[in-house]
Amino acid sequence: DKTQQDALKKAAGIEAAKLIENGMIAGLGTGSTVRFLVDELGRRVQEEGLTFTGVTTSRRTQEQAEGYGIKIVDIDDVDHIDVTIDGADEVDQNFNSIKGGGAALLWEKIVATNSNKIVWIVDESKVVDTIGKFPLPVEVIPFGAGHVIKRFEDRGYQPTLRMAEDGKPVRTDENNYVVDLHLELIDHPQDLAEDLINTVGVVEHGLFLNMVDTVIVGDPHGPRVMTN
Ligand code: A5P
Repeated sequence: DKTQQDALKKAAGIEAAKLIENGMIAGLGTGSTVRFLVDELGRRVQEEGLTFTGVTTSRRTQEQAEGYGIKIVDIDDVDHIDVTIDGADEVDQNFNSIKGGGAALLWEKIVATNSNKIVWIVDESKVVDTIGKFPLPVEVIPFGAGHVIKRFEDRGYQPTLRMAEDGKPVRTDENNYVVDLHLELIDHPQDLAEDLINTVGVVEHGLFLNMVDTVIVGDPHGPRVMTN
């Protein structure tokens, strides 16, 4: 249930927080698992005097981190990122993954691409045999989005435009739309990634293929580590 799942997310977040040391530049991801990570880093800043600089993958995470007094800078004001810790929606044994359930995939991919080391924190339910059951998020420019969705329909991708509670389309931190593809099974993720990124109007997609170095899995027996 949710309480149990939150406990596993929290355990993974606390474990990952140990990777951050004084003086580091750390990428901070987005989502409910990362919230636990940032809580723990905030505690270490306040109670242990930890000092590090953060680069965030969403405004939400930035607000939470700054609330703890964590120093957050713009990604273009750092020349490197030592380690980025983020969540994920699904990850398989080959380290293929779906991200973007929280609509932050674009900034997440930019921060990840510029990081020396990438670590994900997940609860055990997200480790799967084959990715695709979780709807694959694709960030799309609003102009002409209807045509992009039509193209996806024609290719059998079962797209839906993600809507907010106010009945309007969800907007990302870059003010774009998110289209979720209901694929069920993604057998050829590399081919799909190429098809998506070559579709005009697509900004980025939530396939993160073999990018991650370490996955920390919240497991009832204690956090375990998958190393790529
Ligand atoms: C945000 O866009 C996503 O990539 C998140 O990292 C992912 O959805 C994990 O979120 P939870 O930790 O809330 O499951």
